[in-house]
Amino acid sequence: MSTINYSDKIPNNVNLSEDRTLQRALEQWQPNYLQWWGDMGPDHSQNFDVYLRTAVSVDPQGWAQFGHVKMPDYRWGIFLNPAEQDRKIHFGDHKGEAAWQDVPGEYRANLRRIIVTQGDTEPASVEQQRHLGLTCPSQYDLRNLFQVNVEEGRHLWAMVYLLHKYFGRDGREEGEALLERRSGQEDNPRILQAFNEETPDWLSFFMFTYFTDRDGKFQLCALAESSFDPLARTTKFMLTEEAHHMFVGESGISRVISRTCAAMNELKTDDVTKLRAAGVIDLPTLQRYLNFHFSVTIDLFGADESSNAATFYSTGLKGRFEEGKRVDDHVLKGQTYKVLSVSNGQLVEREVPMLNALNEVLRDDYIKDSIGGVERWNKVIEKAGIPFRLKTPHKAFHRNIGSLSGAKVSPDGRVVSEAEWKANVDNWLPSGADRAFVASLMGRVVEPGKFANWIAPPVMGINRQPVDFEYVRFN
Ligand SMILES: [Fe+2]
Ligand SMILES: [Fe+2]
Repeated sequence: MSTINYSDKIPNNVNLSEDRTLQRALEQWQPNYLQWWGDMGPDHSQNFDVYLRTAVSVDPQGWAQFGHVKMPDYRWGIFLNPAEQDRKIHFGDHKGEAAWQDVPGEYRANLRRIIVTQGDTEPASVEQQRHLGLTCPSQYDLRNLFQVNVEEGRHLWAMVYLLHKYFGRDGREEGEALLERRSGQEDNPRILQAFNEETPDWLSFFMFTYFTDRDGKFQLCALAESSFDPLARTTKFMLTEEAHHMFVGESGISRVISRTCAAMNELKTDDVTKLRAAGVIDLPTLQRYLNFHFSVTIDLFGADESSNAATFYSTGLKGRFEEGKRVDDHVLKGQTYKVLSVSNGQLVEREVPMLNALNEVLRDDYIKDSIGGVERWNKVIEKAGIPFRLKTPHKAFHRNIGSLSGAKVSPDGRVVSEAEWKANVDNWLPSGADRAFVASLMGRVVEPGKFANWIAPPVMGINRQPVDFEYVRFN
C-alpha cells in the first residue's frame, strides 16, 4: 500500500485501476486541472526544469525523490497514508465505534463542505503566488516557491479524489467548481477571505508560508483525527508535505532578519531611512507584516463560538489538534472554555460551552505553535546584539471574524478609540509606503549562488546540494 504506482496515468497508491468508473472520472478531471495549472499556475514558468521532490512512497523515511522536472509534467497524484488496522473513532458521540470507510448519509453534507473548504485553499494559494517567480531573490528561493506550488496542486488532488470517490455526482461538480473559483475574483472568489488577499511580494510570501500554511497544518491535523478514515489518511500524508512549506516561511524570514541585522551592525544604525537606503527591510516593517499575516490567519479558524464546530466534533468529522494525546473524555459535554469579547470598552473573558468554542481551542493551539518560530527569529536578532524583539500581536488585534470582529484593539491588547486606531494604524499594519518600499526591493536574481541584497543565503542547499546549485534551468 505504501508504494506508489507511477505506471498509471494518475500516480496513486489506492489501486485506482481497480475502480474503472472512478479512474475514468479522475482522468477526465486531469486535463481540466492541467488547463487550470497552465492558466493560473506560476507565471512564465511552464518550460523551466525545476529541481523538485516527488513522492515515491508514503513511508515516513525516504518518500521523496529529487530531480529536474518541468512543472506541467510533475506527477500529481493520490497518496494516502497506510490504513491503521481496526481504527476506532476516538472522540465525539461515536467514540469507540469503528472508523468509517464510507460516508454516513446523515453527515454527507457537512463532510462535503469540510472537504471542499479545505480543497479550495490549495489552488487559491497557487493563484495568490503566481507572479512571485518574476521577482525571486535567488534560484534557491524560486525552486522553493515552485515546490510549494506543485504540492498545493497535489493537495487539491487529494481533496478531489475524496470528492470523486465518495460523493458521486455532487463530488464531481465540486471538483469542477474548485477549478473555476479564482483568488481575489469578485464574482467567483475563493471561499475563505485570507485566500483572496494578494501575495504581492516575497516578504508576504514568507509570512504567508510561515503563518497561513501553519493554519493549513492545524486544519489538516484536526481532519487527520476524522472518523471518516479516507479523510484522515489523506490529510496525514498532506501534513508531511506541509512541513516543507512552513520551513520555507520560517527560514525565509530568518534570512531576511539576518541580512537586516548585518546591515544594522555594519552601518551602526537602527535608523529606518538609512537602512532602507541600504536596501534592507527594517525590523519595524517586518513587525507590521507579521501583525498583518498573523491577524488575517487567525481569522481563518472561524467564529469563537460556533455551533458548526460543535457539530463537526460531536459527530466525529473533525477532531482537535493532537486529539489522541489529550487526557480528557474526548466528548467535552458540560465542559467550558474562555473566549474573549469587548464589552464597555474592555476586553472581557466569558466561559462558554467548550464544544461551541472548538474553533477558539484550535486557534489557541495555533497561536502557541506560531510563537515558537517568532522566538527563533528573535534569537537571530539577539545573537546580532540588537535590542529589538518581534512579537505576535494580541489575538484581539485586527480581527474580522467572531465576537472580536471589527473591535479596535492595539497589538498589545488595549481597546483603543477610533481616533487612536487611525493615528496608529500605520505603525501597526503595513502602510502603503511600507508595501511600496518592499515592492521596490523585488528584483529578479537568478544567477546560481547569488542572492538579492535584502536576504541572506540559506545555511544549506536543498537535498544536500550546494547553495549555488542550478535549482532551476530556464531553457
Ligand atoms: Fe496545502
Ligand atoms: Fe501548504
